[in-house]
Formats: sequence, C-alpha cells, structure tokens
Amino acid sequence: MKSPNSIHINGYKHISYQSDTFSEKEMVLKSKSFHEWLDKRRSVRDFSDTPVPKEVIENLIRSASTAPSGAHKQPWTFCAISNPALKTKIRKEAEVEEKENYENRMSERWKKDLEPLDTNMNKPFLEIAPWLIIAFKKVYEFEEDGGKHNNYYVNESIGIACGMLISAIHNAGLVTLTHTPSPMNFLAKILDRPSNERAFLLLPVGYPKFPAYVPDLDRKGLDQMAVFYE
Ligand SMILES: Cc1cc2nc3c(=O)[nH]c(=O)nc-3n(C[C@H](O)[C@H](O)[C@H](O)COP(=O)(O)O)c2cc1C
Repeated sequence: MKSPNSIHINGYKHISYQSDTFSEKEMVLKSKSFHEWLDKRRSVRDFSDTPVPKEVIENLIRSASTAPSGAHKQPWTFCAISNPALKTKIRKEAEVEEKENYENRMSERWKKDLEPLDTNMNKPFLEIAPWLIIAFKKVYEFEEDGGKHNNYYVNESIGIACGMLISAIHNAGLVTLTHTPSPMNFLAKILDRPSNERAFLLLPVGYPKFPAYVPDLDRKGLDQMAVFYE
C-alpha cells in the first residue's frame, strides 16, 4: 500500500520525507570526497575587490538558513553589506576595538597563539572584500502586545547556521574569514538593528587576492579528536 504524502500528528501536518540513500561503497566514497573537499577550505585574510553577484550572496544566506534551530525559531538575521560607506564605517570601528584588544585586552599567551596566523589590528579586508555578511543572533522575539520571549539554544543554532554558511561560501568557490572584532556591539549600531539582535560573526566574502598565502596549519587527526565506543 502506498503511504500517504501527509499525515496529522496532534493536529499538526507532517509531510512524507525520503532522504537520499547510497550503497555502503558509495557512502564511503562520498564521505571521503566530502572530507577532502571540506579540508581545502581555509580562512583567508587577503581579499580581491572583484565583485560577487548579489544573487550568489542571497543563495549563500538561504543555505545558512536551512540550519536546524532550537524549536525551529531560526533565531538569526544575516546582514549583507556591499555599500562602500558602510564598509568603511565598519572597518574604522572594528579597528578601534581591535587596537584596544591587541594593546590592552588580550593576554600575552593569546597574542603568542595568534602569531603564526599573522593577524593584527589592521583590517583592510573589511573595505576590500566585495561583501560583508554579519550574522546577528536573535536572543528574544517581540510579541504583538509589546512583550518578549526568549529563543532557545540561540548560540548553538546560529553557530550551526554560520558553519553551513562557511561551507556554502567554500562551495561557491569563494573565501571568507571568521572574524570577531569583539566587542561587536558597534555593528548593531551602525546597521540600526533592533534591540533583540546581537552581532555573532562577521564574514567578509569574496575571492582571494592573487597570490594568496595562508598559514601552514595541520588539522587534528581522528585519533586526536574522536573517541569511538563500539
Ligand atoms: C569563532 C572564531 C573567531 C575567529 N576570529 C578570528 C579573527 O577575529 N581574526 C582572524 O584572523 N581569524 C579569526 N578566526 C579564524 C581562525 O584563526 C582560523 O579558523 C584558524 O586559524 C584555522 O584556520 P582555517 O580556518 O584556515 O582552517 C576565528 C575563528 C573562529 C572559529
């Protein structure tokens, strides 16, 4: 008997779902090639100013917003900025915070850990990259009567969405940098965001400058970061 396309559970519609399935051999190949492809992703700090079509950015954000979220509240807003004046403002304020970070807030240990990455308080990529995507987490929602209620697992939800965004950027043949010019309150002010939104990550998106160089880093092997209980 054919199963119905939809059923109701507790009065709510549920639709029939079928995942793509593969043979064990195909699964091994697919999972291996996915890892090899993902392993090519790198954080890039030198961008080209070559434009990227808005439609690409829209699709990247759509992909991010497919992420699972606590009680499906999708507690995020992605602000995409190509406006040069806004990018200049963001760079200026980010560099103010980063100067304070490097000079007064960061421990010597932290600065030592950053040395191999060649990061510093100057952030020219904030003006050079054709797009900046800023992920805001929605800590609570406004109710019609003026009240508010909290969202659930907001950090977990937006963290997953940003991971998916980073993968989508890589898939499009573009690069990004996970950037956190903390504290990031200045971003909500510049972009005039409502009081329930807090900046979570800033992701410049574009092509790498040519030639581009990235730190020669190793990634942990399975034996260093996974434990199997069989
Ligand atoms: C939450 C988070 C914040 C980060 N903030 C910065 C940052 O402000 N500036 C920077 O240059 N890199 C930043 N990074 C990038 C890391 O340095 C980078 O991911 C790491 O060195 C590994 O390199 P890879 O991304 O090329 O694998 C951040 C990464 C994460 C996950």
